[in-house]
Amino acid sequence: MKACPVAFCPGSFDPITHGHLDIIARAAAVFGHVIVGVAESAEKTHLFSLDERLEICREVCADLPNVSVESFSGLLVQAAKQAGARAIIKGLRQSFDLSHEGPMAYMNHSLEPDIETMFMLGSSDYTYVSSSLIKWVCSMGGDISSHVPAVVAQRLREKLAEGARAQG
Ligand code: PNS
Repeated sequence: MKACPVAFCPGSFDPITHGHLDIIARAAAVFGHVIVGVAESAEKTHLFSLDERLEICREVCADLPNVSVESFSGLLVQAAKQAGARAIIKGLRQSFDLSHEGPMAYMNHSLEPDIETMFMLGSSDYTYVSSSLIKWVCSMGGDISSHVPAVVAQRLREKLAEGARAQG
């Protein structure tokens, strides 16, 4: 039987949610080591800076001993290969996630056939949880505390208040 060594779990994590953490924890139970790859994604606008996203991810993954958090830029498959990963882990919430992820998985496989994209179904508790919805609801004063770790809820409220102050 082959061992399952290193998996790469990529995302923007802007911010990380319980949905992300659920997938990371499930991957950590299967793989020897999981690298959470925080994408720099210069083409996207983020609420949190790369350093903030890394800091928050490291804090909330601290109790998972075989999980580390790294940033990456450029192609996902190159970052995964460089990190020594054999698999890329993606969480699926609803069927429409597959229509978005499927073409990327095919493309990534054509670029790097030695790396498999593996999809995991997370807990049904989080099927509707996304970073975008969390930011939207929180910006309108909604309670997001059951969808993100406490530190994320706190950082999000502070960040949004900072933004509101800056806008006058
Ligand atoms: O959390 P997100 O924003 O859905 O994560 C998307 C991410 C970072 C996984 C995706 O944008 C990505 O793979 N970026 C790296 C650039 C890349 O490899 N692009 C080609 C994909 S076929």
